[in-house]
Amino acid sequence: MATRRLAIVTGSNQGIGLEAVKQLAAAGLDVILTSRSEEKGRAAAEEASAAACSADAPGSITALQLDITDTSSVAAFTAAVEQLGRPVDVLVNNAGMAYKGDAFGPDEAAATLAVNLYGTKALTDAVRPLLAPASARIINVASRAGRISQTSGDVRATLEADDLTWDALHALAQGFVTAIATGNHKELGYSGSMYGMSKACEIAYSRILARELDGNVTVVWMCPGYCSTSMSSYRGTKSAAEGADTITWLATVDPAPASATFYAERTAITWDTKL
Ligand SMILES: NC(=O)c1ccc[n+]([C@@H]2O[C@H](COP(=O)([O-])OP(=O)(O)OC[C@H]3O[C@@H](n4cnc5c(N)ncnc54)[C@H](OP(=O)(O)O)[C@@H]3O)[C@@H](O)[C@H]2O)c1
Repeated sequence: MATRRLAIVTGSNQGIGLEAVKQLAAAGLDVILTSRSEEKGRAAAEEASAAACSADAPGSITALQLDITDTSSVAAFTAAVEQLGRPVDVLVNNAGMAYKGDAFGPDEAAATLAVNLYGTKALTDAVRPLLAPASARIINVASRAGRISQTSGDVRATLEADDLTWDALHALAQGFVTAIATGNHKELGYSGSMYGMSKACEIAYSRILARELDGNVTVVWMCPGYCSTSMSSYRGTKSAAEGADTITWLATVDPAPASATFYAERTAITWDTKL
């Protein structure tokens, strides 16, 4: 029977996710590194194992293929994790995407939501039955770019509602895509940022999840800060490792962090904090 804790980090062949994998393995966890590309995942796992695993730090790193927007990939991934025959102690939903430059339109908004909102939910739903009872932690890598004050009116009221349901959030997200097509998204109270809106929805989803799993699983969401990764075209002011620090802290701090809470720099923040 394995005694080390098992962690999954999605989207971890590069950037903040890869650094989180290294830090968690160095802290003694067995970590599943996931990558859309099997080849990139294998190479990243080799690099990360060389950097983080040693006799003094006996955690391990294993690569598995995972595209969180692909139903068959999610199913194959979940089956492979189930085959390990041990519970998942930490799920880090890190995989995310953002368009660069001026790209803006309904198709781009739908593609952004497909990863940051729907992919995060699909993977979480699939892994939920495998979570360690009572002690598991889910860490959603959101962003202060998803701050609530970029929305207004009914959109903001819906997102903030303590009794928000998944169906209502889904309708709101689809409404954003439609409103971009008709050009009235701002009048309706949506943000002008596809990424910002997707992260606001991811935070709203995290709040629903925390409510659903109340008392059984710790559910937190966090902002890594503005980090130098592919997503920021390497313009971020923090390193990817610095961005991963709060993820690692949330996964390992004892006692567990307060559930249903937004964190940055190892501290609880409000939904309105600017990046
Ligand atoms: N960098 C920042 O300043 C910043 C600030 C706030 C929040 N964040 C959040 O931090 C997280 C990590 O971002 P990062 O900066 O490390 O970006 P990154 O270097 O671009 O890494 C993103 C990771 O997500 C993966 N990914 C994208 N779509 C996926 C999908 N459909 N299924 C599975 N994996 C997918 C990417 O895989 P590929 O390599 O195959 O593309 C990559 O491994 C994201 O959620 C991001 O929104 C970043």
